[in-house]
Parts: sequence; structure tokens; C-alpha cells
Amino acid sequence: MTRPRLLLNAFTMNTATHVSYGTWRRDDTRQTEFHTLDPWLELVAILERGTFDSVFFADVVGLYDDYDGGWDTHVTEGLQIPNHDPAALVSALAAATEHLGIVITSSVLQDHPFSFARKISTLDHLSGGRIGWNIVTSALRNSARNFGLSDRLAHDSRYEWAEEYAEVVYKLWEGSWDDGALVRDRERGIHADPARVHKINHHSPRYSVEGPHLSAPSPQRTPVLFQAGTSAAGRAFAARHAEGVFISQGSPEAAREVIEHTRGLAAAAGRARGDIKFFQGLTVIVGSSEYEARRKAADLDSSFSETGLLAHRSGSIGIDFGGLPTDTPIGDLADQVQGTRSAIEGLIRAAGGRTDVTIADFVRHKQQATRIVGTPEQIADELERWQDAGVDGINLQYLVTPGSFAEFADHVVPVLRARGLAQHEYSPGTLRRKLTGADNILPDTHPARAWHGAFTPAPVAP
Ligand SMILES: Cc1cc2nc3c(=O)[nH]c(=O)nc-3n(C[C@H](O)[C@H](O)[C@H](O)COP(=O)(O)O)c2cc1C
Repeated sequence: MTRPRLLLNAFTMNTATHVSYGTWRRDDTRQTEFHTLDPWLELVAILERGTFDSVFFADVVGLYDDYDGGWDTHVTEGLQIPNHDPAALVSALAAATEHLGIVITSSVLQDHPFSFARKISTLDHLSGGRIGWNIVTSALRNSARNFGLSDRLAHDSRYEWAEEYAEVVYKLWEGSWDDGALVRDRERGIHADPARVHKINHHSPRYSVEGPHLSAPSPQRTPVLFQAGTSAAGRAFAARHAEGVFISQGSPEAAREVIEHTRGLAAAAGRARGDIKFFQGLTVIVGSSEYEARRKAADLDSSFSETGLLAHRSGSIGIDFGGLPTDTPIGDLADQVQGTRSAIEGLIRAAGGRTDVTIADFVRHKQQATRIVGTPEQIADELERWQDAGVDGINLQYLVTPGSFAEFADHVVPVLRARGLAQHEYSPGTLRRKLTGADNILPDTHPARAWHGAFTPAPVAP
């Protein structure tokens, strides 16, 4: 059987502790240097050497919800505080790379859609069309309070907000400027043709935006759209909008269910099933022998912080596990979750539907279920299992950075290449073209494209 290649995405964040708890204390990681440019330049050079498709920056705009009654643990653990703005960083990374896709997370809460659309267009121009946007709705209570709200919105209302936000930015990216509006005609003295640049006059409950978009269309117009929620509302949103979905499922079988279901919803929404690429979050520990890989895993585990993990999970779910006995059942709490619902749902699924899962199960599950330890060949075998479940690519999480990425690029990628599972060199073009083999811009079946030409006045009859 000829397999398609696996898409390779590197998962990181502009902070000391992303999802690798406690390892910032080690000598073999550059996590504590995140505020400087050099470790990032080293990282992107490694990723291009390994022909990774993209690097994806997670982001939050507030503290995780309380752990053990407060947020001291977050500060002590470096748990996404301090946390710097990825959008500012990636401009420098675009200049240092030629092919790597660069995906930034931005919440509908943090940036007005008018200024966000302009920022993304600017980055897409500067990078030659290599920008992606991970659309998030900010599940954290503190992020809502940082932006003038008294509390986070209820789970499903956040997705309604994202729908409204997406409509505004789509109008700006796709509709405000017609193709060919930027003429740059030196002889006639016409930089852009006013007949082909339009105001959008958007009015909705949260936003009134007159337009026009202040940036001319970038190579992709709309950046490649990613999303990462797998609740019912999250899947429905992904089915309409996402071109890439970051999943973090506990097994290939669980991944298959999410993927099949979401692809079905996409088809029902008039898109092709293959229009969405699914990236499974995985951690990989590579050794030249299985023994060596296990020894490395044990060494990495010796710096693991369980407190860091629990604070992160409590804080994103919105239920304080601090001080609770580790045999406390948590499955029944799923319906009360107003934060990240899929975390507990995933645990229940992994336990075969049992709802008596405990905090201890949660810790074990998070550490083990998505981790592959072995030789490059064993890792490639495991990746094939995920691929057989419908996964298009992986979202590689580090334990140490850039070490985890370098080991993958230098030891696993060659095996993947030999099996036809990784590219030997980059194909030309924008991130969208590289990922899909199709066009630089979205297909007409995507809702954003409904706005293309929508503001162009109908021709006047002679
Ligand atoms: C792999 C992955 C990465 C995520 N990255 C972010 C992020 O950077 N910022 C953020 O606010 N939420 C992030 N999330 C949370 C999702 O955007 C979403 O809010 C969450 O999964 C809950 O959605 P759900 O309740 O629909 O499952 C991420 C989730 C996953 C699975």
C-alpha cells in the first residue's frame, strides 16, 4: 500500500513551560531562554532541516484557572507565565526561514478583528504566504477578565462569538479587495484601482467594521485556518472553518472517531472530507536501541513535575484539583466544565466509556497515552498506526527544546523518508499549497470564499 506522507508540525509556545512540566530546570533544554531570539532561530533551522511543514505557537492571554486555591503554582512552575506574544516573534522567524509554515494562535477575545486581519495579512505578505491561524475562543476565566468581561462566556457561546469574528475577518481578507486591484501602474500614476477596493460595512452584535481592509490581499488572502476543540460545538465549528485540526486523542481508535465524525460534518456542510487535515499531538523519545530510549525516558521523567501538569489541567478544565486526593473521581464532572471540555471527555473515551476515572488516571493518561518511546523504526511503526486511523500528520510536542525536535528531524525523519512517509525536500508555494497540493487560496466550498466578490458592484447596464 502506498501511503501519503505524514504532515509534520512542531508544537511550541513563547514561554518556559508549555506542556513539558518541570523540564525547564534541565541543562539540555533552552526553555528558560524563550524571551530571546536565538533559541527560536536554532529551532526553525532544525525544523527546515527535517522538512517540517510548520511550527505552531500555542498562546493564552491570561492565567490558567486557580490551582490549590490560587495561581502561585503557575508562577513557580513557569506555567505559561511569563508568556510572550507569538505574533511579534514570528516576523523574525519568517525572515530566517524559506519554507516553514508558521501558525500562530490568536483568540477572538484578544484582538479586534479589524486589527487582527491587518496583522495577519502583513505577516502573510512578509513570509511569502506561510501563515496559519489557530482560532481559539479563550476558555480561561482570567483571559476574559483581562479583556473587560466579568467572566468567561459559557462554552457554546464562545463558538458563536468565533463564528461572528470569522465573518468579519473573512469579509476583510476575501471581499474587500478584488483580484487585480493593486495595479501599481507607474505611467498612469495609479497605485490601486479604487473601483476594485470596497468597504465591507459589517454590522453584527459585537462588531461594526466599515472597512476597507487596509492591507492588499496577501498570497493566501485568508491564512491557513486551524482549530483545536473537539467538543460537539468545537467539531461543528471545525467542520465549517478548519483546514487543520489539532487533536490530542488517547489512542488511534479515539482519533478515528473524532476524525470520521468531523469529516462527515464537513461533507454535510458542503466541503470535501479531505479538506481538513488532522494533526495528532505526540511526544517522541528516540534511542538507537529500545533500551537506550527507555533510559532516556526515565531520565526525562526524573524532571517531570506532576504539580505542573495538575495545575495546567485543572486550570484549563476550570475545576481545581489542588488538595483533592488523587483517587477522586472526575468523570461525572464533564457536563459542568465551562473550560476545555474535551480533556475529560477524552479520558472517559480512553477508559472505554467508564466515568469513574480519577485524577490519578488523568495524570497517567496525559503522560503515557500520547508518548512513543523507541528506535526510529519503532516510532515510524507507531506513526503508521496513527495514520491508519485517519491522522494526516503529527503535532510534535517537545520534552526538551530544541533537542526533542532535533532528534526527530535527524533520526526519525530519515526513516520516514525511506518509507515514503516524509518529504525529501519542500515543494514550492504557500503553506496552503504545500499542505493541500492545491491552490494558494481557499476553495470555493469554504464559507470565507462566499465573500470574494461580494462587495463588487454589479456592472451597470449600458
Ligand atoms: C493541541 C491543542 C492545542 C491548543 N492550543 C490552544 C492555545 O494555544 N490557546 C488556547 O487558548 N487554547 C488552545 N487549545 C484549546 C482549544 O482551543 C479549545 O478551547 C479546547 O480544546 C476546548 O475546546 P472544546 O471544549 O471544544 O473541546 C488547544 C487545544 C488542543 C487540543
